[in-house]
Amino acid sequence: MKTPTLEVYLTPAESVDALRAEAREGLTATPKWLSPKWFYDARGSELFEEITALPEYYPTRTERGLLTQYADEIAALTEPEILIELGSGSSEKTRLLLDAMTARGTLRTYVPQDVSVTALEGAAQQVGAEFPGIDVLGVVSDFTGSLHHLPGGGRRAVAFLGGTLGNLVPAERAEFLSGIAAVLAPGENLILGVGLVIDPAVLVPAYDDAAGVTAQFNLNVLAVLNKQLGANFPLEDFRHVALWDAENQWIEMRLEALRELSVHIDDLDLEITFAAGEQLRTEISAKFTEDGIAAELASAGFGVRKVWTDQDQRFALLCAQRA
Ligand code: SAH
Ligand code: AVI
Repeated sequence: MKTPTLEVYLTPAESVDALRAEAREGLTATPKWLSPKWFYDARGSELFEEITALPEYYPTRTERGLLTQYADEIAALTEPEILIELGSGSSEKTRLLLDAMTARGTLRTYVPQDVSVTALEGAAQQVGAEFPGIDVLGVVSDFTGSLHHLPGGGRRAVAFLGGTLGNLVPAERAEFLSGIAAVLAPGENLILGVGLVIDPAVLVPAYDDAAGVTAQFNLNVLAVLNKQLGANFPLEDFRHVALWDAENQWIEMRLEALRELSVHIDDLDLEITFAAGEQLRTEISAKFTEDGIAAELASAGFGVRKVWTDQDQRFALLCAQRA
């Protein structure tokens, strides 16, 4: 087995600096907000993996089903020498693509990229052991920053799975998709997984499971603030809220203060007050229509080549080519 290489473009110190800046901005805004990338410390990444196995959380198993069925077709359409995966997490479903791409004999390198060092290290080790014929190059970075450090030197495909695109607000999403297009050469491909707009009676429980794992995942962001910025959020005084915003077509996760309280953030020398019932937005998870995502991809410079959906039309995998 070749030892996986890890390139770090976001050091722990840079990450804490970014968290400081965002906490100052987001927690002093009205309404209060934070972006979802802060969920994913080691504990948050573990909790996300638990979420993927919950009966209510249909996206992971639905996308896995699509990849099981269509990975060979995706490999034949894209024929990458380098597979780059953004927000790769555990790389669990990606193995289906790696199987198909190595079977075709084209793939030389897999580049998992993530903001979570722990998730990336574990995944890179495992993939390296399971696929000894390819190089594994892990990249620690923030995909909402520059993507220009991603390697070239062969025909590339970028995979962005799990519906993570939906965690970006629309302006960020447009910039992110244009950023991928700017890095890719004409003819190279994007393999994208997105959640589709479905009945809120199915959607909302996926983000508010009976076992309370998503609630723990959501509350974990307060533990991250306590640990990284010396804050004193009392986790027991917040409750998890998940709601469907029909106008924006996204799920919104929030944390609601159960009583009036104030929190001190030592690193920022900042006191934040919450009224009883006040909510902090911690994540959006946008859902798409096939036409809507095709239009967003077209604006960014991609042409959709093929769309695969499950029989309940809950999730879509798209192959889009850089024009
Ligand atoms: N692709 C995997 C994991 C999805 S969870 C799957 O389909 O199951 C979202 C992943 O994106 C996490 O591993 C998280 O650490 C990563 N992530 C979230 N925001 C990020 C950002 N701004 N830059 C890089 N990685 C990010
Ligand atoms: C990573 N991302 C696509 C997940 C989602 O479904 O939006 C994160 C998540 N949030 C709550 N549950 C899962």
